[in-house]
Amino acid sequence: MEKKNLDWENIGFGYIQTDKRYVSNFKDGKWDDGALIDDPNIVMNECAGVLQYAQTVFEGMKAYTTEDGHIVTFRPDLNASRMVDSAKRLEMPVFPEERFIDAVVQTVKANAAYVPPYGSGATLYIRPYMFGINPVIGVKPADEYQFRVFTTPVGPYFKGGVKPITICVSDFDRAAPHGTGHIKAGLNYAMSLHAIVTAHANGFDENMYLDSATRTKVEETGGANFLFVTKDNKIVTPHSSTILPSITRRSLMYVAEHYLGLEVEEREVYFDEVKDFAECGLCGTAAVISPVGKVVNHGGEICFPSGMEKMGPTIQKLYDTLTGIQMGHIEAPEGWLRVIE
Ligand code: PLP
Ligand code: COI
Repeated sequence: MEKKNLDWENIGFGYIQTDKRYVSNFKDGKWDDGALIDDPNIVMNECAGVLQYAQTVFEGMKAYTTEDGHIVTFRPDLNASRMVDSAKRLEMPVFPEERFIDAVVQTVKANAAYVPPYGSGATLYIRPYMFGINPVIGVKPADEYQFRVFTTPVGPYFKGGVKPITICVSDFDRAAPHGTGHIKAGLNYAMSLHAIVTAHANGFDENMYLDSATRTKVEETGGANFLFVTKDNKIVTPHSSTILPSITRRSLMYVAEHYLGLEVEEREVYFDEVKDFAECGLCGTAAVISPVGKVVNHGGEICFPSGMEKMGPTIQKLYDTLTGIQMGHIEAPEGWLRVIE
């Protein structure tokens, strides 16, 4: 199969339309068989539940070309089950997990010409999502839904690739106790837009959100979980019921413990402790691990000893091991890679 003629080394994190997308409709209490289609546009009623009350959930995952030329995805079973959790919280019907994986496989296969080549630094981003589509005007869940998967080739999420970034402590909150912070719902991202535009306008790359109840504990950023490295080389990640359970973070904690022999801790992390860490990174499907060089809190600055030039040594090892597993030159734990072709 011939690859598309794209400038793979230089694509950013944006939308590039690919050839096929998967669609399945939920009506009269059941999902139809689903199919791949060509049209990237969606026509819906002006009163559709998603347009009026933001009833939409999504997932983010990637397809990689391995060193030996296969196309694989990474732990799609975890995205499938997280989407079940998201759907339930927003009173949406569950899209069956095995069908989710099949839809992802079909969509990636149909767009194989867009899966960036091995070594290009780019990947194929996969976006499964689901939304209420019939007219809803009283505040209640929709009766009809659409599940879709599209793909788009992407490069690094942060400009500058893997150079350390500067983040600020946000004055805005991302998620309330007992709210929806732990699911992947569009509404969480809508409410972060003003905060990220403000952060960018002030010269920062991202926001660090604190817990909204006490504003003393580190939560996550708008699109990634935190990993910290202590001065004695332990990996620490915030535990919170109001952050998204990142699949990348869970995988990195496993890699740290079982591949690198490091001690790992998932626990509450107080903002006051941040100054004592040696390294900091943001982890997620889009972010992979993006190193953080500096955290700014209203003029107070925390500069990690790893500096602003390159990743710290431990974050680098985690990055190399995880991407090595994803690209097939380090053996993956059983079941982590799903070979598509
Ligand atoms: N946190 C938020 C708010 C996210 O949007 C994402 C991205 O999916 C993550 C964390 C990272 O999760 P994952 O590693 O599963 O992509
Ligand atoms: C992902 O990492 O897949 C996400 O959904 C995060 C988003 C900020 C692009």
